[in-house]
Amino acid sequence: MKIKNICCIGAGYVGGPTMSIIAHKNPNIKVNVVDMNADKISAWNSKDLDNLPVYEPGLSKVVKEARGRNLFFSNDINKYIDQADMIFISVNTPTKTSGEGMGYAADLKYIEACAKQIAEVSKTDKIIVEKSTVPVRTSEKIRQILKLNNSHVDFQILSNPEFLAEGTAMRDLEIPDRVLIGGDKTPDGQKAIESLVKIYTSWVPRKNILTTNLWSSELSKLTANAFLAQRISSINSLSELCEETGADIEEVSKAIGMDSRIGSSFLKSSVGFGGSCFQKDILNLVYIARTLGLEKVADYWEQILIINEHQRNRFSSKIIDFIKKENLEPEVLMLGWAFKKNTNDSRESASIYVTNNLINNSIKVDIYDPKVKEYQVNFDLSSLNPDYDASLVNYIDNPFINISSYNTVVITTEWDEFKDFDWKTVYNNIKKPAYIFDGRNILKSEIIKKIGFNYLGLGRN
Ligand code: UDX
Ligand code: UDX
Repeated sequence: MKIKNICCIGAGYVGGPTMSIIAHKNPNIKVNVVDMNADKISAWNSKDLDNLPVYEPGLSKVVKEARGRNLFFSNDINKYIDQADMIFISVNTPTKTSGEGMGYAADLKYIEACAKQIAEVSKTDKIIVEKSTVPVRTSEKIRQILKLNNSHVDFQILSNPEFLAEGTAMRDLEIPDRVLIGGDKTPDGQKAIESLVKIYTSWVPRKNILTTNLWSSELSKLTANAFLAQRISSINSLSELCEETGADIEEVSKAIGMDSRIGSSFLKSSVGFGGSCFQKDILNLVYIARTLGLEKVADYWEQILIINEHQRNRFSSKIIDFIKKENLEPEVLMLGWAFKKNTNDSRESASIYVTNNLINNSIKVDIYDPKVKEYQVNFDLSSLNPDYDASLVNYIDNPFINISSYNTVVITTEWDEFKDFDWKTVYNNIKKPAYIFDGRNILKSEIIKKIGFNYLGLGRN
């Protein structure tokens, strides 16, 4: 089937950038991105390209070029489902908060609702593409819902997980390591796969497009994320060992990563990984393993999350203990709220947990982030703890405005501007003794110590 019209349900961090690139690279295909959130759609349609709902370097340029030509954003979900030959499902799949699998399993209610809506609206054959990260065998569930609610139309189901990382989404989409497409082994399934392959070959070399069966594709996405997270917890566990032994985690990480069999990526020690995917996907993997009776497998992967939480708490305790022990002002300047640099996304950011720990110890936290807005900070804290003491949290637009009242700076996101600060001037104005808790190991400890700061990184002495 030659695809002329695509609909994507979900205009979030995955749907928005992915569809922008597909439209940009395929000017002859009409791409309609729909979402039930009206505010989000008007923001995607806004003239102010600096305030799109998703901040990603390079995104606004692509949106500017394709929007109104063959890329459209709308709330009229039914209309664009009806028109489409191919429908991507990019809605969120959060961890369940109630019912069977609570706290572990992915909640598929939005995916299931989309499948029902597609079935009810469709009058012509369609290819349905799972973009959202889902538990293995979700496509079977989608197939059942489609069949049950519409027996006149042929639906082919594909799995096409997205591997983009936030902050580098546009680059990852432009030059993906691989595009993964899973589908049925039947002739119709293979034809559907080829329709999607054709869209990607507009810019991705064919050799980088991997086709598999549906289940392999679904499971590969979950486990790729689990592998990445596992490397971070491994290096973070070693950071504690470094502090006890006098080794330096940055040196250890470099030495390990230079082994070409291991590789140097994802070996940066940090206050803990965040983001919408790693925790959710590992919980899901643990749940699947437990459901299948594979207790040892489940325990193995769960340990990654235990170390991640331990690292956040360990970092918070260092700050709290120093403030108490050294009798410092119980007020810190927190630099960073996003879960990593170059994004406005703060889902599961370590900064949320660290702040919660600090305010539970009556420490005031003034927060600065170049891209995350104040309402999001309040939303994140109240989602973690509805009774949090808001009087202890302050969102600031300029990190230096109140600098003379702090003894302590806490770095939670690795934004370049923090690395590039004139730390000498900061030191001259900050209250003494001055402490920096570098939860990202972004500063050169020797230089910072020379200026006069007491420097505490992770796994560094
Ligand atoms: C999400 C998941 O986090 C990820 O695991 C999955 O791979 C893809 O979906 P993301 O794009 O980051 O990724 O989520 P989010 O930014 O929350 O976007 C989802 C969008 O779907 C939201 O804008 C929401 O309004 C929309 N949505 C959700 C619908 O339009 N309809 C629904 O029924 C549910
Ligand atoms: C991740 C996967 O990388 C991507 O392939 C998938 O599609 C979605 O999930 P994302 O969560 O956007 O992407 O960002 P990523 O770069 O993987 O970082 C996740 C977290 O790990 C961040 O909090 C980051 O700061 C942290 N991290 C990453 C480290 O602490 N150390 C590292 O070495 C790398």
